[in-house]
Amino acid sequence: MSVIILGIESSCDDTSAAVFKDDVILSNIVANQEVHKAYGGVVPELASRAHQQNIIPVVEKAIKDAGVEREEIDAVAFTRGPGLMGSLLVGTSFAKGFALANNLPLIEVNHLHAHVLAHFIKEDADDTDQPKFPFLCLLVSGGNSQIIIVRDHLDMEIIGQTIDDAAGEAFDKCAKIMGLPYPGGPLIDKLAKEGDENKFTFSKPKIKDYDYSFSGLKTSVLYFLRDELKKNPDFIEENKADICASLQKTIIDILMDKLEKAAKDTGITQLALAGGVSANSGLRNRLEEVAKKKNWETFIPKFSYTTDNAAMIAINGYHKYLNNEFIGQDAAPFARTEF
Ligand code: KG4
Repeated sequence: MSVIILGIESSCDDTSAAVFKDDVILSNIVANQEVHKAYGGVVPELASRAHQQNIIPVVEKAIKDAGVEREEIDAVAFTRGPGLMGSLLVGTSFAKGFALANNLPLIEVNHLHAHVLAHFIKEDADDTDQPKFPFLCLLVSGGNSQIIIVRDHLDMEIIGQTIDDAAGEAFDKCAKIMGLPYPGGPLIDKLAKEGDENKFTFSKPKIKDYDYSFSGLKTSVLYFLRDELKKNPDFIEENKADICASLQKTIIDILMDKLEKAAKDTGITQLALAGGVSANSGLRNRLEEVAKKKNWETFIPKFSYTTDNAAMIAINGYHKYLNNEFIGQDAAPFARTEF
């Protein structure tokens, strides 16, 4: 018998609801919050206020677009963490209220697990383009940079992660130093296409095993630009594309060096990207180039499933439902978590 899952995501600045029939998506509604653009980053208090305004219309639309009746829903899956506490509280409280009012079981979802499971979202029942277990997933977002061995839908092991900034943060913070608006990642990606990636050299960290560090790169860019601007006040304007291309290449080099090492050491040849930074065209191209040489099979989710969305929460909820993993009404959100 089929299972209908309502997924709810509110961990950062996107309010999202999705409805699934088993592992097939019926709807996925995302309300982005423009309000943060003026501040150069997400303002937590404004994010939670916007979630409060968005959550009811977003859920109503998701159910309507899915073409299901509320009575047909079998369970509610929600992002319990990690994320911004105020934002998570809105989604968690809504999910609990909805489950209580409709007498439904609740399923907690780890936001990072969900990014990985975005690879298993089916747009129709015949969709079979999915990684096989075990696969290595490079999860790169605004808040995380991790290399994960995925052994099964609910069995993952983080083998490397950032010890400071995430890759997305590196894009965003360096963009801010250059005077580019938030979020800087997509803009750097766009400008980099016109630039020479070998024009400037930025420092790369020396970190053990499969871990990452990006805070040194930010400092390296800051000092480099400070020195160049002393000589030429128009340096950024005149070299914008080359700076973006060189910076993007450095971030990709850092990410790919560790991923290649992990693949070599584990012998795993199924490689996947997840998280907002996997939208980066340079990273996608590099993964494909390396894959050709190393005979890897690669998987990159559709753009709409790489940024924050509730479809990935619902698919995770579906697998937990099959595994009988439910949680009580006393579940409170967590801002930070280990897997
Ligand atoms: O996964 P995500 O939507 O949000 C969380 O972090 O939870 O990721 C957002 C991050 C931001 O740092 C943004 O700058 C980055 O993903 N990003 C990109 C691109 N698109 C989004 N970074 C580089 N190139 C892109 N095309």
